[in-house]
Amino acid sequence: MSVIPDTVRGDRTEAWAALRAYAEGDGRRLDLRQSFAADPDRFDRMAVQAPAVFADLSKNLWDGFVRSQLLCLAAECGVFKRRDAMFAGAAVNVTEGRSVLHTALRAPRGQGPYSDEVHAVLDRVLAYAEQVRDVERSGIRDVVNIGIGGSDLGPQMAVAALDAHAHPQLRFHFVSNVDGHDLAPVLRHLDAATTLFIVASKTFTTQETLANAEAAKAWFLAQGRTDVARHFVGVTTNVAAAEAFGIRTTFGFWDWVGGRYSMWGAIGLPIAIALGAEGFNAFLRGAYEMDQHFLHAAPEVNLPVQLGLLDVWYRNFLGCTSRSVAPYHQGLRRLPAYLQQLEMESNGKSVDTDGQPLPFATSPVVWGEPGTNGQHAYFQMLHQGSDVIPVEFIAVKEPTHGLAGLHHKLLANCLAQSQALMLGKTAEAAAREHPPTASPDMAPGVIARHRTFAGNRPSTTFVLERLDPLTLGALIAMYEHRVFTSAAVWGINAYDQWGVELGKALCNQLLPRLQSGDTAGLDGSTAGLLNRLR
Ligand code: F6P
Repeated sequence: MSVIPDTVRGDRTEAWAALRAYAEGDGRRLDLRQSFAADPDRFDRMAVQAPAVFADLSKNLWDGFVRSQLLCLAAECGVFKRRDAMFAGAAVNVTEGRSVLHTALRAPRGQGPYSDEVHAVLDRVLAYAEQVRDVERSGIRDVVNIGIGGSDLGPQMAVAALDAHAHPQLRFHFVSNVDGHDLAPVLRHLDAATTLFIVASKTFTTQETLANAEAAKAWFLAQGRTDVARHFVGVTTNVAAAEAFGIRTTFGFWDWVGGRYSMWGAIGLPIAIALGAEGFNAFLRGAYEMDQHFLHAAPEVNLPVQLGLLDVWYRNFLGCTSRSVAPYHQGLRRLPAYLQQLEMESNGKSVDTDGQPLPFATSPVVWGEPGTNGQHAYFQMLHQGSDVIPVEFIAVKEPTHGLAGLHHKLLANCLAQSQALMLGKTAEAAAREHPPTASPDMAPGVIARHRTFAGNRPSTTFVLERLDPLTLGALIAMYEHRVFTSAAVWGINAYDQWGVELGKALCNQLLPRLQSGDTAGLDGSTAGLLNRLR
């Protein structure tokens, strides 16, 4: 097994000190409008073309000095050595003593670590997917994925995104919440005879998933069906537990695949059923191409590296607490939710890999909605609110719908938003306007102040030629490696998630108390609430 290289935490480097000094001095005066005026080539110089993803980084609040110091920071921290070690199978998930090898799941046959095991499972997944897709023979019309977190968000996001490429006679449903209001409305429309349930859980111990799987099984039996083994399949690293549930067909994966990094293997079964073998292989190829880019592209044109470093710049030097993701494609409506787990569960840490408390901030809040919907909700705050929030736009050049007159409107909105964030509007310009809805009782100068936009608000725009399996694979791998990059600078372990455990343990203690009403020893608030909920 490969060895984890010595690395240096970001705040202990010379580059960090240089960036700090700059952020407190000249860096505070960075102005995008002046930067473009002074440098007509800024767009070209700050564009990065990665496999299937073009990124315009020029509307970000950085300059040549910041960019070069961020690259020094990455080098001083050992980001590249750490990247190579991860790909080679070093146990970079130090707190669990595990390798982190989701990249092996998309390496072509014979090329990555554990290739034989990976491709044996992939072959079975794809063969099974093709079997289900032969709907006349399989009789399946509805596929219900029961899983949560990494066993839900990736497949759900990808199946929605690639709807235009999905089998036209199959419907997909994703049930995650232990709230029966999630499962019940799905079941209401199903015919047990034509439904396939996929129970997806890395550990096969997750309360929500097991409870939903039990409820689905009870419903299935209540419909007069007996062939559980044919209608329930499992995806897990814990095959014994799945078999104990009554599942006979299981697809496995390994502890070196984190839940939130797992849709490239068996957890991607719903995606494979939706797309078929050819489509799923294209999805893997896109991710593999991004892996190769991350491994081999020079740091200055390496998109995940550039993005991860930008995240550090915004978070630690410009004080940005969140990043908004605005995909201008309805198919990507679940991308923000998917990214919340990917980034916030990975990088929401406050000690370094040695367990030392960090004196700086880590994961930002990641949030968003598809455009243009977000424009009519929270974009007001992005434009005129008191916080500067970097926004990430995703524009897709070719639509897959044939509806006339819509797509250019969508794209024009996308362009207009990043332009408006950057340009803003001065009080003088606002004063020259006479909005019909302005109150006649208020002085025009005061109205103008309400209608002023500070501007100079940063954004990144990704351009995808089309939203197809290959492109989506590349886009998601880009996000994974971006998270790796910022984690490596911060010196944290992006691959554990101890922070989810306390709540799970307390829930197990409260469950019997909800039944018995025993509040002895509870804090006053929890006891009061428990009494109200009984
Ligand atoms: O509670 C967090 C978590 O452990 C995630 O990391 C994981 O993706 C999710 O729960 C589901 O876990 P499992 O796939 O084991 O059911």
